[in-house]
Amino acid sequence: MSEHHHLPQGTIRKLWPGEAPKFRDHLLRLDKASRRMRFAHGVSDAFIEDYATRMADMGGIVYGFFDGTEVRAAAELKKLGDTWGREAEAAFSVEQPLQEHGIGTELMGRVIRAARNRGVQHLCLTCLADNNKMQAIARHYEADLRFEYGEVVGEIVPQGPNYFSLLAEAVEDRFGYMMAVLDLQNRVVKAA
Ligand SMILES: CC(C)(COP(=O)(O)OP(=O)(O)OC[C@H]1O[C@@H](n2cnc3c(N)ncnc32)[C@H](O)[C@@H]1OP(=O)(O)O)[C@@H](O)C(=O)NCCC(=O)NCCS
Repeated sequence: MSEHHHLPQGTIRKLWPGEAPKFRDHLLRLDKASRRMRFAHGVSDAFIEDYATRMADMGGIVYGFFDGTEVRAAAELKKLGDTWGREAEAAFSVEQPLQEHGIGTELMGRVIRAARNRGVQHLCLTCLADNNKMQAIARHYEADLRFEYGEVVGEIVPQGPNYFSLLAEAVEDRFGYMMAVLDLQNRVVKAA
């Protein structure tokens, strides 16, 4: 991420299985152009509703950028089979008002680390070849990236997991959990 970016206030953490509706609502809020860029073609609301439910069932990982309780951006890491194999797929979405503030870049770092920790060697980014923002983000991670043009813009070649990358993901998951509990407590206190 460039030095000039100031990440908006919020928390990045993995979504829990019960949070699929927040993921769905985020995807539904994407403006028309972003929705098309995210899914590589225009999709209906019904498609998104189905997609968000299936994503939760398929055992993939979804990182969310939470602004309070709402998910405003997401990064998905998807298995291509039943278990984590050599290849996985990644996708990113940031709601328009929050785009170009460095969130996509932050999310990409999380996804590369999560892929590495699961032994994924090839991470395919499903996005349109003219997606300049994704290409700009990918360039920030060029140590891990190999570009290929066509349907797939970039292929990330993560290194294997190491103690620090495993520890960093575990510590961050704990922190994310703590933040979610504190947020829940705050809401309960406010409602009382
Ligand atoms: C693509 C997307 C995920 C990027 O997230 P983001 O939070 O806006 O991205 P960031 O702010 O981290 O980085 C954007 C980079 O693109 C650059 N950029 C912006 N407009 C650009 C353009 N027209 N041409 C080239 N680079 C551009 C920015 O300068 C920035 O690079 P920098 O950090 O080197 O300055 C987000 O814009 C989005 O959700 N778009 C719609 C859905 C989509 O395209 N998803 C990806 C396909 S799966």
